[in-house]
Amino acid sequence: MNYIGSKLKLCDFIVGNITNAVQKPLSECVLCDLFAGTGAVGRAFKSKVKKIIANDKEFYSFVLNQNYIANHTQIANLDALVAMLDSLQGVMGKIYSHYSLGGTQDKPYQRLYFSDENAMKIDSIRVKIENLKRDKEIDLGAYYFLLASLLECADKVANVASVYGAFLKRLKKSALKTMEFRGAKCEVGNNANEVYNCDASELIGRIKGDILYLDPPYNAREYGANYHLLNTIALYDDFAPQGKTGLREYEKSAFCKKGRVADELESLIKRADFEWIFLSYNDEGILGLDEIERIFKANGTYRCVNKNYQRFKADSTRTQKQHYTIEYLHILRKS
Ligand SMILES: C[S@@+](CC[C@H](N)C(=O)[O-])C[C@H]1O[C@@H](n2cnc3c(N)ncnc32)[C@H](O)[C@@H]1O
Repeated sequence: MNYIGSKLKLCDFIVGNITNAVQKPLSECVLCDLFAGTGAVGRAFKSKVKKIIANDKEFYSFVLNQNYIANHTQIANLDALVAMLDSLQGVMGKIYSHYSLGGTQDKPYQRLYFSDENAMKIDSIRVKIENLKRDKEIDLGAYYFLLASLLECADKVANVASVYGAFLKRLKKSALKTMEFRGAKCEVGNNANEVYNCDASELIGRIKGDILYLDPPYNAREYGANYHLLNTIALYDDFAPQGKTGLREYEKSAFCKKGRVADELESLIKRADFEWIFLSYNDEGILGLDEIERIFKANGTYRCVNKNYQRFKADSTRTQKQHYTIEYLHILRKS
């Protein structure tokens, strides 16, 4: 998934530096990925550490991490389930009626987030997944595996430039293709991990471990707004989409607010019951490097490593510009 702030391409840098810094075998460590997003960092550590605690305040992320981090045994009848769902007849459900042209043509706002066909296919698969769970034909592991698969497949055919803050006026090439429902990867492991859907500031008081990895938002762009449609597919609840973009209500993050982020980080670090703390942040973040340094130095032994990194491409203009940022990994041993 093309996710703002994804650390997929930085995993080697992050895993390498964390492994070098922590003076104890990773296999004896509990690692918490407190702002887990797509789960890329947790996945990179899944086979290396004793246990992973993954958390994110967005529900779609909870679903992805339930599949990628919590699921650790093989899911029965996986291929048959996926094939059955892929062959379902489309239905006119919530995605069709709020987010396709066919479903919104008689409404105050016309929206084109998905082709009519793909919106109906998403609806039919989403409804069937819920029914399978309700009828106890699948367990929770399979439920989250199927939901995560649907989120990723729907994202591939979404008619957006990159995020769901707005849709494109005409269906782009990838959005015209019929959505193929394919199973997400599901890594078998031998650890029983924990996944939460909480605000980081609240959860930090309830957990403890050895390594705390922090990857908060670094600017004012709220994930709840930019990925609202993924939350809608995952939750599939009753809600009133707002205005032209069809945004649902969302909780704002203190880490996206210039006036609050420093206090929030400081409080998080102080209350964290973890010996090692790592923070990913880039040089374009709303929190200055000097401020991060001050917060970290007040809590133990601090150092920092960095790497040049090709930035998330928000649109085609930026792609051509080949924009680079400096990605920092702040390292703290708490005392
Ligand atoms: C930079 S992204 C993390 C990307 C992730 N490391 C990855 O590789 O996919 C930041 C994440 O923090 C989450 N988030 C923002 N504010 C939060 C909060 N107060 N508590 C928990 N999660 C939060 C967002 O939903 C988003 O997924």
